[in-house]
Amino acid sequence: MNHTQTSTHTGPVALPPRERTLFDFDWLFHLGDVEAGQAPEMNADSWRKLDLPHDWSVEGEIAKDNPSGSSGGFYPGGIGWYRKSFIAPAEWAGRKVAIEFDGIYWQSDVWINGHHLGHRPNGYVGLQYDLTEHLNIDGPNVLAVRADNSQQPNSRWYTGSGIYRHVWMSVTEQVHLARWSPRVTTNEFSSDEASLTVTSTACNDTDSACEVAVRSTVLDPSGRTVATVESSQAIGGGSEHGFRQELTFENPDLWSPDAPNLYTLRSEVLSEGKVVDGVETPFGIRSVEFEADRGLILNGEPVKMKGVCEHHDAGCVGVAVPDAVLARRLRILKDMGCNAIRTSHNPPSPVLLDMCDRMGFLVIDEVFDEWMVAKTPHGYSTVFEQWWERDVSDWIRRDLNHACVILWSVGNEIREQFKPEGVKIARQLIDAIAELDPTRPVTCGHNWLEGEEVWMASEFEVVGINGGGGGCFQYENYHRENPNWKLFASEVPHTLQTRGVYQTVSHYRDKDPAGGIMKTPDLAHPEVFDGVSSHHRSSYDNAYVRINCRDSWAATSKNDFMAGEFRWSGFDYLGESCGWPRRSWNFGVIDLCGFPKDAYYFYQSQWTAEPMVHILPHWTWLGKEGREIPVVAYSNCQEVELFLNGVSLGRKSIEGKMDLTWMVPYEPGTLKVVAYNEGEPVAEKQHVTAGAPAAIVLTPDRQTIDADGQDVVHVKVEIVDEAGNFVPHADNRVQFEVSGPGQIIGVDNGDPLDLELTKADNRKAFFGMCLAIVQSTAEAGTIRIAASSDALSGAEVQITANLRA
Ligand code: GAL
Repeated sequence: MNHTQTSTHTGPVALPPRERTLFDFDWLFHLGDVEAGQAPEMNADSWRKLDLPHDWSVEGEIAKDNPSGSSGGFYPGGIGWYRKSFIAPAEWAGRKVAIEFDGIYWQSDVWINGHHLGHRPNGYVGLQYDLTEHLNIDGPNVLAVRADNSQQPNSRWYTGSGIYRHVWMSVTEQVHLARWSPRVTTNEFSSDEASLTVTSTACNDTDSACEVAVRSTVLDPSGRTVATVESSQAIGGGSEHGFRQELTFENPDLWSPDAPNLYTLRSEVLSEGKVVDGVETPFGIRSVEFEADRGLILNGEPVKMKGVCEHHDAGCVGVAVPDAVLARRLRILKDMGCNAIRTSHNPPSPVLLDMCDRMGFLVIDEVFDEWMVAKTPHGYSTVFEQWWERDVSDWIRRDLNHACVILWSVGNEIREQFKPEGVKIARQLIDAIAELDPTRPVTCGHNWLEGEEVWMASEFEVVGINGGGGGCFQYENYHRENPNWKLFASEVPHTLQTRGVYQTVSHYRDKDPAGGIMKTPDLAHPEVFDGVSSHHRSSYDNAYVRINCRDSWAATSKNDFMAGEFRWSGFDYLGESCGWPRRSWNFGVIDLCGFPKDAYYFYQSQWTAEPMVHILPHWTWLGKEGREIPVVAYSNCQEVELFLNGVSLGRKSIEGKMDLTWMVPYEPGTLKVVAYNEGEPVAEKQHVTAGAPAAIVLTPDRQTIDADGQDVVHVKVEIVDEAGNFVPHADNRVQFEVSGPGQIIGVDNGDPLDLELTKADNRKAFFGMCLAIVQSTAEAGTIRIAASSDALSGAEVQITANLRA
């Protein structure tokens, strides 16, 4: 089966005769160390056959004594080996061949045909190795990779293990553009005209001099050529030359989160008049400045960053995240009104930046969580001194053409911030970045900005505040004391919430002057209360979440000097679990499955304009008849009215408030909320008291996927009663069966305490819901996904897998 395909969905797009081919398919894997696993003659027939991206940690048993501990969500680490055999086609003779890894976690070694290509500790910055000298052209070749994630803990969060991002094979002629070339920079623009500088390095790897031309062409978002320039130079054999070209074009369409217009720079290299290499690089026309009084100025206008911090895992698939899984996550954030992402605390996959360019997210691209002073015994601090310059250089050069990247962040809550060394290292990092990219400022997330220890913060052009719970109350002080600081909240607020849990803890009650919400400590359904209370830490209950989210956003939105805020976090993530028996921690406003929690709708009400309304809690509280239940509504409309069984409980204006509360004596039936603008109903939502679980409802996020062995469909599972009402306490086990050209790559339910393997074909529902992710194979056809459960009526969906045209 020939799986190879040309890149159309990530990275610079290759133009013939350059080839850039996805090299993810048909690898062999062995968990555990192997003596001379790189030897071409070694028999690896017993190794497991798999396709990349792959994360062996998420496939392993979660266990209390796994050395990753709570930081790693108790997932296993270890050492893993990969091998791939391939024939180097005769057409590669005389050309340059390189292998690119978008990320290997971590401490990787790579060999081709037994020849060691290099060792690299960093697990997030991509690697490229030149294979040319060591290939058997028209013959068999063996690529071998060893990843060592055995020294644990080496991170404060779940890292995953192995070749967890894409791999590419790149083939060019002997005269070609250098890695990371071209670089495109917008000099200035008005509504009439934009001017660009393009720098490209052309390499002549032949033995003799030749005349080399670089032709740069700008295509507008509709694909029309708007500017072109060609320059030429004689380049000696074995030498390279840097070209600098200026281009202008009229009436530029600017890039912004609301209108992510992307231009394409087509770069072609001509040798003796013939095109020998080429790439297409997407870029955007936009200006980014930070001002101490006005925050972020994008294209001349203040724009508030409505952001989230995101780790790189995606729940049940671990860190081996198919592009379509990432795309769904970004859509969920976009629907919340989010316009910014901080890639905490490591460089993201190139795919994420491509998607952020296209979908319109502002990205704070972050590189480190620790410098020289350790946060974990075996983490990056052990290699910082030796590797930081190389890692920073590769990271910046990889990412600098992305329109979405507006800030470089060199760290998060760095321990040296309290020491004089902090200033020195910060300076080195800032200077190194300025050499590579003078166009973007550098920042860092600080968790202490008071007293004498703020000196490190003053080094940064933009100062990030990690504020925990009460950080937002300090913004005005920081601004007053340091009027030149350009401030934003890099991590605010930190709030915990478990989807489906509505439990109360009285000592947080006093913190809510607005409503005294959650008055009844035993409000929740008894089973819910008994089963989850301490472990889900819902002592940080919905009231607490509401207050922190409200306070933080109120402080950010009212202060013009605040460039924005990045909440900790958007999605729940694996690891940093705060102790056995939790695999994850639920800081997100979206759970591990991608199901929104209530706080998601708080942000949607603040960050979006399309009329919406949300109410909490659900309305199935058997045995609580007559008990007063606080009902909270989030809306971006002018007025909201609550109805219980058709009777209005009052219409309220939301002006000056961020949510509305009614105390409602519980009575089974329909709780409905209607939102109004100018007196007209524009949005509504309702919860209906459910009976016993009776059936499964499946909702796929897509009907058609690509038959490329990578694309996925997410199937949401909801348990409903006989009348079709969602049953919010249901915990039935759901069994999946997939037939046709598809396979399950993960199941989950969002429960941090559910330690069952997510690489499975069944899952218990958690508060009424669970999820299955099904991936296509390389064959077209109909994928049937059936779900069944004892005592419930089952359900089935059919998805079409098409070969890409
Ligand atoms: C912050 C830290 C994050 C995460 C968070 C949890 O201090 O920067 O990485 O650990 O706390 O609350």
